[in-house]
Amino acid sequence: MNKRISLCLAHMSGKEQAFIQEAFDTNWVVPLGPNVNGFEEDLKHFVGNNKEVVALSAGTAAVHLALLACGVGPGDEVIVQSFTFCASSHPVTYLGATPVFVDSEADTWNMDPVLLEEAIKDRIAKTGKKPKAIVPVYLYGMPAKIEEIMAIADRYDIPVIEDAAEGLGSRYDGQVCGTFGRYGVLSFNGNKMITTSGGGALICPDEETKKKIMFYATQARESYPYYQHEEIGYNYRMSNICAGIGRGQMTISPTISIPANSIRNCLPEWKGSYCTRILLPVSTVTIG
Ligand SMILES: Cc1ncc(COP(=O)(O)O)c(C=O)c1O
Repeated sequence: MNKRISLCLAHMSGKEQAFIQEAFDTNWVVPLGPNVNGFEEDLKHFVGNNKEVVALSAGTAAVHLALLACGVGPGDEVIVQSFTFCASSHPVTYLGATPVFVDSEADTWNMDPVLLEEAIKDRIAKTGKKPKAIVPVYLYGMPAKIEEIMAIADRYDIPVIEDAAEGLGSRYDGQVCGTFGRYGVLSFNGNKMITTSGGGALICPDEETKKKIMFYATQARESYPYYQHEEIGYNYRMSNICAGIGRGQMTISPTISIPANSIRNCLPEWKGSYCTRILLPVSTVTIG
């Protein structure tokens, strides 16, 4: 078979341009505005579980800010899945910390909970301190064994940042992936389940945390009528134009994984299934 199988092709609903046009008509051509707020609301509604969502310029930015909010800093270690895209681990190094890679298991191709616990014990024995965070991934949208990972993380009181960049719409036991840990990362890059051409979001536990993430995503600007900065911040907010694409995409989000998934288009026998079905099924997992 010589057919090329793309990860995911962009699939437009047709409503994206109306949101973008409105942004131009009202001159909201900036990294904030009604589309950004609307897209965040759409995502919040989609992920449920009383979570809050911050729209950002990339999934990588979301990983970075989640690590920052977990207090990761120079000299710390963060456990990351070894079989993933580099953006799961690069931000660990932005903060002067070191990634500790944990291999995947055969059922889901995601972080092996047994090896995770071994790694935690090993690092505590060797360094005298716990890893600062755990970053499991939902590779190709396949849910990781998140219940087992959460049980271990809770036992050692280590925050989990779920890298669901590739997993928008995937569920574990009915619950949206990215809503189990303290933070969940989404990406809207062109090869993801929905796209904003480029962009990402961070799923946050509550309103207060959302505000903190927004603060760091907008250059850590203090709330004065003039520019005052007391901490290091980043320029990570999503633009109102990109968010317009996102709002259009969210109008078809419940079904987006079906037409957008190019594997299904390549292989007729997989129509109606998910690309993740190329892996062995996990009994507790429901996807989509
Ligand atoms: C697993 C994973 N994590 C993080 C990212 C980073 O997302 P972005 O490209 O939006 O920065 C990606 C995608 O590129 C990804 O596949």
